[in-house]
Amino acid sequence: MEHRPDSGVVIFDHPLIAHKLAIIRNRETGHRLFRAALSQIAGLMVYEVTRSLPTRRVEIETPVQRMRCTVLAGAITIVPVLRAGLGMIDGILEVMPEARVGHLGLARDEDTLEPRAYLNKLPRDLADGPVILVDPMLATGGSASAALAMLRHAGASDIRMICLVAAPEGIERMRREHPGVKIYTAALDERLDGRGFIVPGLGDAGDRMYGTVN
Ligand code: PRP
Repeated sequence: MEHRPDSGVVIFDHPLIAHKLAIIRNRETGHRLFRAALSQIAGLMVYEVTRSLPTRRVEIETPVQRMRCTVLAGAITIVPVLRAGLGMIDGILEVMPEARVGHLGLARDEDTLEPRAYLNKLPRDLADGPVILVDPMLATGGSASAALAMLRHAGASDIRMICLVAAPEGIERMRREHPGVKIYTAALDERLDGRGFIVPGLGDAGDRMYGTVN
């Protein structure tokens, strides 16, 4: 795990994640395998992403005696950015089934690269616990920044973000506009191309996972 504490970014350095990411990046990989690998990577990332979640002490009784234990405090909310964020949800819920799921729908205009919000379904008491924003692609950072503004508007304050592949431009924008949000990514790529695609990247995650590539 490569921690960059000053930048608020954690880049995963794990053989299993690297292996699955290679499958996802490969243009020969079809939507079925793409979805499976994406979900598995998300599950593998949870262990590290949840390391700093708030906890509380409770007293329980084992079959032998009473003792004090540590449990999660507050309701955890996972928020995928549609569409591609949905591909990471199953893997996360498998290891953290107690989490709730809010949805944000954002589509990036292909000409202006500006995000347009079309769905906002979040729990009312979002402020009561940690929120994990999920989107595999952090390109210009426009979508993530808009999503974070929507989360803050809804009351969230303890927020982390999971992505799969990030561009330096997106990371920089997040650090500027949302400096308190820690970002966890499987890879930090080289740059954006003229169309706003991450290079080398993996193409359009939403299209590749749902088989809607033209
Ligand atoms: C892609 C991706 C991110 C966003 C990243 O979604 O899944 O949400 O673009 O780009 P940005 O950092 O420059 O905002 P897209 O808008 O293509 O929607 P989709 O997931 O429905 O395909």
